[in-house]
Amino acid sequence: MIAIDAACDSFRQLLKEQLERIENINTERQDFSTKETVSIGLVDGDGIGPVIMKQAKKVLEKLLSEEIKNNKIVLKEIEGLTIEARLEKKQAIPDEVLKQIKECDVLLKGPTTTPMGGTMESANVALRRELDLYANIRPVVIPEESIDWIFFRENTEGEYVLGSRGVELPGMAVDFKVTTDVGTRRIAVAAFEYARQNGKKRVSIVTKANIMKKTDGKFTAICHEVAKDYPEITVDDWYIDIMSANLINPAIRNQFEVVLLPNLYGDIITDEAAQVQGGVGTAGSANLGDRYSMFEAIHGSAPRMVEEGLSGYANPESILRATVMLLRHICRIDAANKLEKALNTCDVKVTGTPEGATCEAYGDAIYNMI
Ligand code: IPM
Ligand code: MG
Repeated sequence: MIAIDAACDSFRQLLKEQLERIENINTERQDFSTKETVSIGLVDGDGIGPVIMKQAKKVLEKLLSEEIKNNKIVLKEIEGLTIEARLEKKQAIPDEVLKQIKECDVLLKGPTTTPMGGTMESANVALRRELDLYANIRPVVIPEESIDWIFFRENTEGEYVLGSRGVELPGMAVDFKVTTDVGTRRIAVAAFEYARQNGKKRVSIVTKANIMKKTDGKFTAICHEVAKDYPEITVDDWYIDIMSANLINPAIRNQFEVVLLPNLYGDIITDEAAQVQGGVGTAGSANLGDRYSMFEAIHGSAPRMVEEGLSGYANPESILRATVMLLRHICRIDAANKLEKALNTCDVKVTGTPEGATCEAYGDAIYNMI
């Protein structure tokens, strides 16, 4: 009984905090087309993070050299977001790191390690929450197959928001999943606006609303409400299980365009989609909020590669794809196009093993093409 009372108290506190969160959402926007100086924070992360980030930094420095010279762009190295520092300080993001991050407009971030189990929260999840980065956008493009997918994953709610705050009772564990009207509406608007502005004809909503009736049920209902403002766009609903099958069904997969989904399903299916494109090392990811934004590879810090001494063979393509998204976001369109063209035509093949090229060789090739 005591354990149940303690769990209920903890749940009451969570509900209170979540209601406060949605009441205090700040929707003030940055306008990068007119902003005098844009500061880009560079966070290495850990594992293969520093290795791939090294290539991204040299590419950014070259692409933006003029603007860096005349102070229109400031690149700021932010140190200390490593698993060692985080465990030592017992903080998902050490205070002084978060302070420096909040002084920047946008971030380019290498992967960060999340220990399995325990209480240490993922740095990614904490950053997405602290900076209110609600839209996780992941494109996957395979021209030979006419595949042009873009995933809009809700990034601040679902199973993630309270993922490290579940309760344990003797012989039992309970986690929580949260879906809000305001949180769903803003990701749905982002997806439908993208579709409208980019001539996309179809938005597919993916949930498991037959089982997660309250949370996914709400997600679906709100997305359909938003869809009413976009009558030119076809909307369809899929469950996550069959959608996972659809993405590996060559007969129909190129019919999908914009995919809109809650946090955890978005996490899982975007790794699958990236694999269809050529591997998780090939896909970039944007985490957008109204005030801040963060760009990163979709994969993790690959501790296994580090252990096996293979970090030098990590593929920097994903972080460079994220760099393209960053450049576009801050309205540096020419630089973005130049880098994207280089990535699309580069014939250096990185495989993650000594059979393929090194991370540096790939980075050098891109550097010489821009
Ligand atoms: C991703 C990653 C993260 C996630 C991890 C590192 C917390 O897998 O960005 O997809 O699950 O969101
Ligand atoms: Mg993931």
